Amino acid sequence: MDFLETLRDIVVLVHLAGFAILFGSWAVEAAAKRYQATPLMNAGLGLAFLAGLVLSAPWGLGDGELNYMKIGIKLVVLVIIGALIGISTSRAKKGSPVPPAFFWLIGALTLLNAGLAVIW
Ligand code: HEM
Repeated sequence: MDFLETLRDIVVLVHLAGFAILFGSWAVEAAAKRYQATPLMNAGLGLAFLAGLVLSAPWGLGDGELNYMKIGIKLVVLVIIGALIGISTSRAKKGSPVPPAFFWLIGALTLLNAGLAVIW
């Protein structure tokens, strides 16, 4: 097992931990019927983002050929999720929470990104 391959696997693991934190914290709020974003979702998103960037850089950590089309779309989706989380948390602080549709969109887009990663 060569060193770079193991390093890549570790970064993928961190990337997955970010996804798990984001989707897990979202699921907790859904089950509690609170339908608002939380700071933990942001933390998971940030972790997935950082590890995703490391995996996408052209320095040999990538899984053979990098699919930049897929990576680009995942990045756009991630930015949209980040915006939705940001709007949701700031509006909640101001006492005018966003409608639940915002919240459902965060979960759907998170699943979409995982689906793009696994199925495409
Ligand atoms: C909410 C955001 C994201 C989620 C839920 C997500 C989810 C995942 C999952 C589940 C995998 C594992 C796929 C596998 O091993 O078969 C993966 C791999 C990967 N992700 Fe993400 N990801 C997200 C954001 C990003 C971003 C922003 C980037 C790049 C800037 C990125 C780049 C990658 C790369 C390069 C891989 C390695 C495997 C591959 O080429 O598909 N991800 N992602």
